[in-house]
Amino acid sequence: MKEIRSVVLGCGSYLPERVLTNHDLAKMVDTSDEWIVQRTGIHERRIAAPGELTSDLGLKAAQAALADAGRDASEVDLVLMATSTPDQTFPASAVSVQAGLGIQHGAAFDLQAVCSGFIYALATADGLLKSGAFKRALVIGAETFSRILDWTDRTTCVLFGDGAGAVLLEARPIELAEDRGILTAHLRSDGRYKSKLYVDGGPSSTGTVGHLRMEGREVFRHAVGMVTDVVQDAFAATGYTAEDIDWFVPHQANKRIIDSSAHKLGIDPAKVVTTVGMHGNTSAASIPLALATARADGRIKVGDLVLLEAMGGGFTWGAVLLRW
Ligand code: ACO
Repeated sequence: MKEIRSVVLGCGSYLPERVLTNHDLAKMVDTSDEWIVQRTGIHERRIAAPGELTSDLGLKAAQAALADAGRDASEVDLVLMATSTPDQTFPASAVSVQAGLGIQHGAAFDLQAVCSGFIYALATADGLLKSGAFKRALVIGAETFSRILDWTDRTTCVLFGDGAGAVLLEARPIELAEDRGILTAHLRSDGRYKSKLYVDGGPSSTGTVGHLRMEGREVFRHAVGMVTDVVQDAFAATGYTAEDIDWFVPHQANKRIIDSSAHKLGIDPAKVVTTVGMHGNTSAASIPLALATARADGRIKVGDLVLLEAMGGGFTWGAVLLRW
């Protein structure tokens, strides 16, 4: 039997209209454009409008991915949404996207791995496609982190933004090792670090939604080592090296983390896709947003070797290597 691979057919994204700049934030908390840019590389982020839900952002990104692929929603049999900011505790926001797309067959569910959510969702969709259970999957990362931020806490509210991105994957039998598709996916977590980055509410603890809390310096301290380790696993599994990579598309948390990770891995800075300056940290949405940006501006082309990685709350982390 021929090996099945999950091939990217298209990708798309959606950003809410409202732009919140560092200058705007400086009027809300004791901070400055200079501090935020120097420590994070972030200039501005988008904020969802009142009543605009995570599933609304996810639906628009999914429609953009379908349009990019030239495919109809009826061809999709799996909708997988990575989010930590669902519309409601249940049902999954993915079912709202499924209904919004007019799909009444197959399956839809949410997956939660905070900032690593998109990597986890890609790996999950890849496994399900390879098993033969599904043929085409929309993998979405969508977040409204603005709803769980403490807007009086300058150490966290300056870092995050809202947005969504999506890719459409198709299960295809491959002929050659060089063929397109997801080549390898590696997931990690270590719950001992759960108190370093968390939300202080939830249905079974406080009965409230809660606010994001973070020991930023601690997260920073672990981030580079964890992501570079898991990327090395992806290289070891495939035989590729940093020099073979065409595009490095990391989770967009902080420009300093991105630059340090690329440097430690030996990846040419010209191959690094960085969108954190315009989007802030959009958690599970950040990688597909960056992919859609680099695809739309002509950087990522069919056949390119693309390395994705992320690290986030849990801690969770992971890497995916794919040929676009
Ligand atoms: N504006 C001005 N001053 C600030 C701000 C702000 N927005 N936030 C904190 N400060 C102050 C602090 O109060 C502190 O003041 P003090 O020295 O008088 O006590 C000073 O700046 C330095 O604070 P640190 O926390 O040590 O600053 P650091 O250089 O570590 O930068 C940051 C903070 C940007 C949060 C950094 O630690 C970081 O990026 N960590 C990673 C966090 C992250 O990206 N999390 C996202 C989720 S996980 C992931 O996606 C990887």
